[in-house]
Amino acid sequence: MGMTTNRDAYKTTATSMKSVLITGASSGIGAALAKYYLKQGWRVFACGRNDEALAEIDGAESVIFDITKVQQIKEAARYIQQALGGQPLDLAILNAGNCEYIDNANQFDGALFERVIRTNLIATGYCIEAFIPLLRASSRLALMGSSVVYLPLPRAEAYGASKAGVQYLADSLRLDLAASDIGVSLICPGFVKTPLTDKNDFAMPMQISATEAAEYIATGLSKKDNEIHFPLRFTLLLKLLSNLPQSLMVWLMKRSTGKSQGSLV
Ligand SMILES: NC(=O)c1ccc[n+]([C@@H]2O[C@H](COP(=O)([O-])OP(=O)(O)OC[C@H]3O[C@@H](n4cnc5c(N)ncnc54)[C@H](OP(=O)(O)O)[C@@H]3O)[C@@H](O)[C@H]2O)c1
Repeated sequence: MGMTTNRDAYKTTATSMKSVLITGASSGIGAALAKYYLKQGWRVFACGRNDEALAEIDGAESVIFDITKVQQIKEAARYIQQALGGQPLDLAILNAGNCEYIDNANQFDGALFERVIRTNLIATGYCIEAFIPLLRASSRLALMGSSVVYLPLPRAEAYGASKAGVQYLADSLRLDLAASDIGVSLICPGFVKTPLTDKNDFAMPMQISATEAAEYIATGLSKKDNEIHFPLRFTLLLKLLSNLPQSLMVWLMKRSTGKSQGSLV
């Protein structure tokens, strides 16, 4: 683990400057969020494992750690607390995540299942433990879910289960943190063009850019939305389809057996 600032010398001590921690800031949606908040004049703690990619985010402070390593998360939290010099974090966006599909459910891959749940859900729990003490009344915690939670889809057993867990986690945590006036937002994007989705070999309807996704997210967070989902036409379509009986979905799947299958992030 390591920490560096991408400025020659980080001299700003203005207490009025807002601060945000973003995990998974080295790529995709997280990198776009880091750039968005830097443009708005925020102090940005950009977290990830890829130090070279983080160093390219001009003006951010890189915090390099693996979210699946508890000790590294704790050290990162200590570093950020010291760097803040007693000031609270205004916003923590726990965005880091991974997606792997179960390609053959008849040979269910338990190790893959564990990997995805560990990165997307268990690690989120350890990040919450480490970073909540940096938040204060009127701070906000945002958890990265996915629109996959609106509609169970083939091949998404691991990814969907991990994000359904994140959804429940966010909704439950919101209730418990209400008394401390710490807001909790759940973010549920549709398809966003990033290295994570570039691996997909199926059609991704209504896909948007990471920059557009960052704008949707930042707007929702500024409005203190509990759930931020986008693009609206896509997420509403999924919610509508989720009202169909699952027996119909099963029938459709049987009919399409042998044809190429898609999934959703
Ligand atoms: N793209 C979409 O369509 C979409 C839709 C819905 C939800 N999401 C969610 O959005 C989030 C970001 O995804 P993305 O599409 O922007 O993908 P991405 O470009 O692949 O970015 C994933 C980020 O997560 C970080 N990460 C992964 N494992 C990590 C680990 N063990 N420790 C520390 N950092 C780790 C990566 O950083 P390092 O490699 O530097 O460690 C990287 O910055 C994910 O949670 C994903 O599930 C994406």
